[in-house]
Amino acid sequence: MFTIETRPGDPDSLEGDALVQFVFEGETDLPLALSALDERLNGALSELVSSGEMKGKLHESTLMHTANRLPTRRLMMLGAGKRGDLNAERTSHLFGQAARTANGKGWATLVFGSTALPSGSLSPEETLRAGMSGAVVALGRGDLYKTGEKKEDKLERIVLAGADQNDGWNRAAQAGQALGEGVNLARELVYQPPADMTPTILGERARALGERFGFETTILDKAALEELGAHALLAVSRGSAEEPRMIRLRYGDFPGKPVLGLVGKGLTFDSGGLCLKPADSMVDMKQDMSGAAAVLGAMHVIGTLKPEINIVAVCPSSENMTGPDAYKPGDVVRTLNGKTIEILNTDAEGRVILSDGLAYAQQSGATHLVDLATLTGACVIALGTVCTGVMGNSQAWVDRVLASAKEAGEKMWQLPLFDEYKEQIKSDIADVENSGGRPAGAQTGALLLQEFIQEGIEWTHLDIAGTAWSSADTKYRVKGATGVGVRTLLRLAEMMAANAG
Ligand code: BES
Ligand code: MN
Ligand code: ZN
Repeated sequence: MFTIETRPGDPDSLEGDALVQFVFEGETDLPLALSALDERLNGALSELVSSGEMKGKLHESTLMHTANRLPTRRLMMLGAGKRGDLNAERTSHLFGQAARTANGKGWATLVFGSTALPSGSLSPEETLRAGMSGAVVALGRGDLYKTGEKKEDKLERIVLAGADQNDGWNRAAQAGQALGEGVNLARELVYQPPADMTPTILGERARALGERFGFETTILDKAALEELGAHALLAVSRGSAEEPRMIRLRYGDFPGKPVLGLVGKGLTFDSGGLCLKPADSMVDMKQDMSGAAAVLGAMHVIGTLKPEINIVAVCPSSENMTGPDAYKPGDVVRTLNGKTIEILNTDAEGRVILSDGLAYAQQSGATHLVDLATLTGACVIALGTVCTGVMGNSQAWVDRVLASAKEAGEKMWQLPLFDEYKEQIKSDIADVENSGGRPAGAQTGALLLQEFIQEGIEWTHLDIAGTAWSSADTKYRVKGATGVGVRTLLRLAEMMAANAG
């Protein structure tokens, strides 16, 4: 991965393969910050913009060679869309586009001018953090298993130039890098094929993370789960030759501060179990541990940036398979907190293992919970792949998570948990049943989770079934795992660190 350097001095005084500049849609006058540059290029910039040849539409791009008029060999003009629409998400995508383009063209050094950063409502620090994280994410790869000539990354340095920079800018750029690494860690865990990302291996990866950052690490194996009484997790894993794991990482020793519980669904492969999925629905089901991946990715960033907050991260992990001992429709499982679930559909396994995960996080002292899960196809139908579904038992806490997501640059949208939906998961034989049928499927999934939240504990559920995986390449990221959730979790941890006593 490239290094990020901040340098005093004008951007047009530095050598490099390309200098990146942004053009906003509907702004035909060149911003003042670019006038010196324009002069050195004999007015080429102002002509480009005023002639309407470059309109500044989002992700539009023009490349000019500078023919020795600048020490950078090229000028890359990127359309940033309307200034008023610029936010953290767009900023990360724009810097990502620049980095992905540069890497693809084999350029080693990319220069950004600090006076000409795209800004709207974001502070320079926010711009840098979002931007640098996007550049790191842009170089994340999905071709982990291609043999033959391995395409090496070409981009070596991103240089941020400008006379006006300070320590805060430097810190923000470094934080952006750590954030991008956390997102890429989550993506890499998801990209791994099921045979190479079993619950056991996920547990080992979590242990390595714990050792690196000094987290208190507990990985419960099958015997330990039996001892504990996590029969829901055990039931789901019974059809598989792979042992389940319950992963727990603890960070922070700040007495009197809240304990943020992050719970991630870690289904390393979801075949549907005996209620087997059709082949087309099963093909990408290695992604069913994206919630756990996001939690571990976030812990990477938290270990690096060290916000003053207590965190307990819990990831129940299992395969959902059809082996001879597989759990069956009609089975009743007794969960870690004692409540019973009747299994109607073995493919609604995420909520079953999360019941134990949520109980374990609360036993571990969590006061505020956020769970992330590729939980329901229904959420994909409701919201598409554009935004994450948000539900919870406390509007104040949901609002905080939504605010974090907005600031972090991830789209999320709340769905209601009306009491009426609870009728759909009432069981004749047990406390609840694990499938509420098709109507309001995202909400009934969430309501089952809510059954496992104790009185007085605030909980928000993020259904990332539509957002964890993207089916097409973009200008700023290869297709596949997105690492969704990492950014929001970091922002939430920071927000809590800033607000709590
Ligand atoms: N892992 C799936 C949900 C999913 C679907 C994730 C598409 C990512 C993309 C989950 O375990 C599942 O199978 N849910 C069922 C629940 C139903 C049986 C109540 C579903 O959505 O069909
Ligand atoms: Mn399933
Ligand atoms: Zn699943």
